[in-house]
Amino acid sequence: MSLTNFPGSANSSPLDPSITKVTIPALAEMKRQGKPISALTAYDYATARLVDEAGIDLVLVGDSLAMVVMGHDNTLAVTVDEMLHHTRAVRRAVRRALVVADMPFGSYHGTVGGGVANAVRFVKEAGAEAVKIEGPRVALVQALTEAEIPVIGHLGLTPQSVNRMGGYRVQAKTLEAVQQIKADAKALEGAGAGVLVLEGIPREVAAEITAELTIPTIGIGAGPDCDGQILVFHDMMNLSFAPKAKFARRYADAGALFRTAIEHYREDVEHKAFPSDEESYHLPSALKKEMQAERTAVEPFKQLRKA
Ligand code: KIV
Repeated sequence: MSLTNFPGSANSSPLDPSITKVTIPALAEMKRQGKPISALTAYDYATARLVDEAGIDLVLVGDSLAMVVMGHDNTLAVTVDEMLHHTRAVRRAVRRALVVADMPFGSYHGTVGGGVANAVRFVKEAGAEAVKIEGPRVALVQALTEAEIPVIGHLGLTPQSVNRMGGYRVQAKTLEAVQQIKADAKALEGAGAGVLVLEGIPREVAAEITAELTIPTIGIGAGPDCDGQILVFHDMMNLSFAPKAKFARRYADAGALFRTAIEHYREDVEHKAFPSDEESYHLPSALKKEMQAERTAVEPFKQLRKA
């Protein structure tokens, strides 16, 4: 049997062989070496390029796009086709980071076979390198792993369970709930999950889960002891038009930056200050002269006709 010989090293980016592609085993190695994993959401080509070029390890096409991009009240409405559309755009932009697609609500909540079929679409039709699913769906994680689809689990505050939880509340706050989430985390790891997202749980619980698992944990509102951190792009840039959550540190105010620029542009248009002559295209001077000469020749006849 021969090994397929891809250009560059075995884990080089298929789009750019000079770049070492982040893979699920590479993330596991980062945990072993105690190297923190950086992750961010992205939903389109431009932001995904910025995120990837900044050296972020994992790009999640999160179903949070239902809220921050599409303006829904929660994540439940976004469809598989809509998620595929955004995943394709992100995939075209990313060279190095691991591209993970979030499976939307309803796409894996029926049969295991149905969940696998939808996950295959994310890999085949959009180029996702892993899928993320919420909740302790051990049988599905096992089936996806057997189908060669890397899975990211997601426990704690799982936004697709908003109706069952009765709102977005910090989870794992009783002894029973702590024991349950720890057991769920172990079960997902045992079923083959490659990474586990922990959202909205006490720091102490996330620390214990992180210490007990060999797979990396990535936290959001789960304290600093996880193996990595993830934020929603629009939250960190103040573009989400929502009250700031306790954990969502703002790294820039792109909302204010964009608003000022847009207002400035509107004023320039209203005052005819945009575009300037330098921002306009011009005829070649020879043609300009020719047209001028033609106008001059025609002018006396026009005057005659008027008289
Ligand atoms: O959809 C999303 O953005 C997520 C992250 C918050 C982990 O699931």
